[in-house]
Amino acid sequence: MQGRIKQFIKAITAKVTVEDEKFLNKYLKEERLKGLFRQLPTFEQRHSLDVAYTILEKYSFNLDDNEKKLLIQGALLHDIGKLKIGLNPITKSMAVVMDKLFPQIAKKLTFIKFIDGYYNHPKKGGQILKKYKLSSELIYLVENHHNDKANHGHLGKLIKILMECDDLN
Ligand SMILES: [Fe+2]
Ligand SMILES: [Fe+2]
Repeated sequence: MQGRIKQFIKAITAKVTVEDEKFLNKYLKEERLKGLFRQLPTFEQRHSLDVAYTILEKYSFNLDDNEKKLLIQGALLHDIGKLKIGLNPITKSMAVVMDKLFPQIAKKLTFIKFIDGYYNHPKKGGQILKKYKLSSELIYLVENHHNDKANHGHLGKLIKILMECDDLN
């Protein structure tokens, strides 16, 4: 619960700094991708940046240049499916608590927009990125960033790192 409160405070005070902008220019070079990222609410931009920074901090040594680029782009865009689905710090907290307390019931409530977004944002994110004609590997990372059941083949290493660093933020 304390963790949730901390996360909530972090969300409502979130900012994106000039340093972050430089980082975005490096990893989301194309203006259309930065534009897409900026459509996320600030607290989700902050979360995605923090996931990316955690990856670099913990795993830089273990990633070649291509893996790093793919994974950092994946981190920045992993929650892009949360665009326009009614998730704000309050509804997000509600969704997390409902999922913890009564997941069976919560999963049946996907007629509620923010609950649907909470559970199905990876799939929605994949659909958005397909329209941007991004690489199939990047789309795969986004679509599977909460899927810990499947065998992800050669992307298994990157998915595992993304999931771990997502959880830490
Ligand atoms: Fe997610
Ligand atoms: Fe996330």
